[in-house]
Amino acid sequence: MKTWTKEERYRVLEDPEQIRPLHEAIVTSPYRQTYHIQPVTGLLNDPNGFVFHDGRWHLFYQWCPWGAVHGLKYWYHVVSEDLVTWKNLGVCIRPDTEFDNKGAYSGSSLPMQDELYLYYTGNHRDEDWTRIPYTCLVDLKDKGNPVKATKPLFGPAPGYTEHQRDPKIIAKNGQFYIVLGAQNEAKHGRVLVYKAPAPDRDWVFAGELKVPGYEDFGDMWECPSIESISGQDVLLFCPQHLKLEGRGDTVHHNGYILGDMDWDTLTFNPHGQFHVLDFGFDSYAAECVALDSENNDSEAIIAWMGLPDAAYPTDEEDWQGCLTLPRSLTVRGRRLIQQPLTGLKSLRGKELELVGEPHTIALPKACEVEFIARGGDMTLSVLAKEDGTGGIRITYDDTVRTLSVDRSGMTRRFHIDQGEVRTRPLPKGLHHMRIFIDHSSVEIFVNDGEAVFTTRAFPLSNEHDLCLQGDAALHIWELKPSVSDDFII
Ligand code: FRU
Repeated sequence: MKTWTKEERYRVLEDPEQIRPLHEAIVTSPYRQTYHIQPVTGLLNDPNGFVFHDGRWHLFYQWCPWGAVHGLKYWYHVVSEDLVTWKNLGVCIRPDTEFDNKGAYSGSSLPMQDELYLYYTGNHRDEDWTRIPYTCLVDLKDKGNPVKATKPLFGPAPGYTEHQRDPKIIAKNGQFYIVLGAQNEAKHGRVLVYKAPAPDRDWVFAGELKVPGYEDFGDMWECPSIESISGQDVLLFCPQHLKLEGRGDTVHHNGYILGDMDWDTLTFNPHGQFHVLDFGFDSYAAECVALDSENNDSEAIIAWMGLPDAAYPTDEEDWQGCLTLPRSLTVRGRRLIQQPLTGLKSLRGKELELVGEPHTIALPKACEVEFIARGGDMTLSVLAKEDGTGGIRITYDDTVRTLSVDRSGMTRRFHIDQGEVRTRPLPKGLHHMRIFIDHSSVEIFVNDGEAVFTTRAFPLSNEHDLCLQGDAALHIWELKPSVSDDFII
C-alpha cells in the first residue's frame, strides 16, 4: 500500500489537469457506484451542507483529490432536483486562506433568501504543525459564486483541545446558534454552543452543552447536530474512541439520543440511551436535511459510507468512499427510523422474472431486492458465488428473534479486526426487507426501517448471486444509474 508524505497529502490542487489521469484510471473500476455519490477522484468522507435552496438540493462532500488518503480537504459540490439523480458541479470551498491552509473541514449550510451561507471548519496549522481550528463562512451568491468572509466567525474556545470542529448552524427563536464538536482538556467529547443575532456576525461563545449522563462518553464528539424530527428533539453525534457492545472492536460510531433541548440553559435532557444509527459496518458523519412540505417525509439523512482510519480495497485504485442513499427519517417507538426515499422507486428498471421458487439467482450489479417473509428461520446471501457459498449472509433466527449480517464470506475482506458480523434483535420478528445493492455497497432496510445495516462490499466477478434458504417471496429490480461520473472540477 502506498505511503504518503505530508507534502503529497497536503498538496494544493492548482490545475484540474493534475488529477484528470486519476479520474480516467478509476472510471472503469468495477467498484464505481452508479446510484450513490462518490468522489470524482481521491477520497470522499463526510457529507456537508445538505440543503434545499433555489429550486434544487445541494450537497457537498469532504474531498481529498490526490488518492485514498485523508489530506488537504475541499468541499466538492453536487446537486439534485429529486434527491435521486445527482450531478457533479465541481469544487466549492478551496483551502486557500491562512485560516484554512490545511483543509476546509466539515460543516453545514443556511439558506438566506438568494444566498446560501456555508459554515465550515478552517483547519489551520502553523509551521510547527500546531492546529488552530477556525469557524469560517462562505457566501454562495448568485447561483454559485462562493465568496469567503475575510475573517473567521470565531477561533477556538479556551479550555478545549485542538479538536473543535464541524459547525452545525441552527436558526431558533430569532437567534442563530452554532453547535460544534469538541474535546475538553480531560479528553472527553463535548458540544460547544455559539450564539449570534445575525448569521454572519457577532458570534459569541454561549457555553458547553450539558448532556446529563454523557460526561464521559468517548474522547471527541464529531459532527454534532440538534434536530427536531417528528416533533422530537434529537442529538446526533459521532463519539470517538469508545467501544460499544455488539459493535466489535470499532471505536467510531454514529448515533443519537432522543431528549428535550432547552436552549435557555443549553441542556439536552436525554430520554433514554445512545443508539447507533446504523447496525452495519460503514456509516459515519450523518447529516440531516429538512424536506419540503410537498414531500411526505419531513426530514432526510445521508451519511458517509465509510469510517475514519480505515483502509478499503479501492485504495489500491487510488480512490475511497461514497455516500449512503439519502433516507427519510422519522421517530417511531423511541427510535429513529430510516427508510429509502419514495422517489427511489423511479430507478426501478426491469423486474427479474423468478419462475417457480428459484433459490439461486444471478443479480444485476445495481439492483433492489424486496424480501417478504413467510415466517421461520432464513438465510439470504447476496453477492454469493454460483454454488451459493460466500457473499454477505443475512440470517434471521426466529427462536431468539435476531437478525445478523455477516460479511466474512466475501473474498475481498477488510477491517476484519473490527468484527465481520453485526446482530440486532427484532423483538417482533422479521417481516420485510428492502436491500439496495450497488457495485460496491449493500444497504439493508429491515421491517420498514426498524433497523438498517450498511456495508461496503467489493465482489469479484464470480460473486453476484442471491441465494435463499427459507420461506419468503422475492422481487428483484435492476436499478438505473442516477449519479453522473463526469470530470468536473
Ligand atoms: C469526520 C471528520 C470531521 C472533520 C472531517 C475532516 O469524519 O473527522 O470531524 O471535520 O472529517 O475531513
